[in-house]
Amino acid sequence: MSSSQVDIKVVEDQADFARKAAELFVDASREAIADHGRFRVALAGGSTPKLLYRLLAEPEHRGWVEWSRTDCYFGDERCVPPDHPESNYRTAQETLFDPLKLPSDQVFRMRGEMADPDQAAGDYEAVLRRQFGIAAPAWPRFDLILLGLGEDGHTASLFPETSALEERIRLAVPGQAPKGVKDRLTLTVPTINHARMIVFLVSGRQKARAVQAVLDGHDEHLDRLWPARLIHPLVGRMVWVLDREANSLRKS
Ligand code: 6PG
Repeated sequence: MSSSQVDIKVVEDQADFARKAAELFVDASREAIADHGRFRVALAGGSTPKLLYRLLAEPEHRGWVEWSRTDCYFGDERCVPPDHPESNYRTAQETLFDPLKLPSDQVFRMRGEMADPDQAAGDYEAVLRRQFGIAAPAWPRFDLILLGLGEDGHTASLFPETSALEERIRLAVPGQAPKGVKDRLTLTVPTINHARMIVFLVSGRQKARAVQAVLDGHDEHLDRLWPARLIHPLVGRMVWVLDREANSLRKS
């Protein structure tokens, strides 16, 4: 992917990182609500976004977003119960939903606790189609999808050399992680790429190699090795928020 197609924001420190991420989140919310009266956002999992969620939920900042018109979805989930320490839903619940007292009918979690991940993915697809008011083969257009990046170049639960990378029909599918909680649920590449706005949040030196491979690698066959290379909005905008360490291997 040529970096000219991507808006890259390199920030100095954690405080700047959270502020830039919040600015993008708030702007996307205001644009969506002004345009169609609702803000539908898919939250990222992992630990990086916690900085953003905590900032948005702080009493002096929660007025930045019109939460009564906001619906929260998930880009992926681990196949664990919602109260499990590894659950992305639990992370968002503790750092964002509970502090905001966001009504449960505005939160649409992936049911990682289900015994059959394929059924859980199908159920999530049905939730998306109902909430977005679309039938197959139409694609939901999230107003914002937040994504993280793994050291292996995975994003959401789209891991290197897995079948989830090839899915072009379903909205969500099971994923397989090489470490940690193996079974996952994830939005598919086309679902993510139909978003109006995609924001990657990446910090830390341990991510620098993956950032370089995703943003500066020019060889198509690398896509299956570094799955975040498959992510680029078809009609929307994409921004990468990087701290200096995560950006440290890129040619300036
Ligand atoms: C997950 C995430 C995953 C995450 C990256 C980065 O469920 O783990 O969706 O894609 O964003 O692994 O995770 P950290 O932010 O914890 O480094």
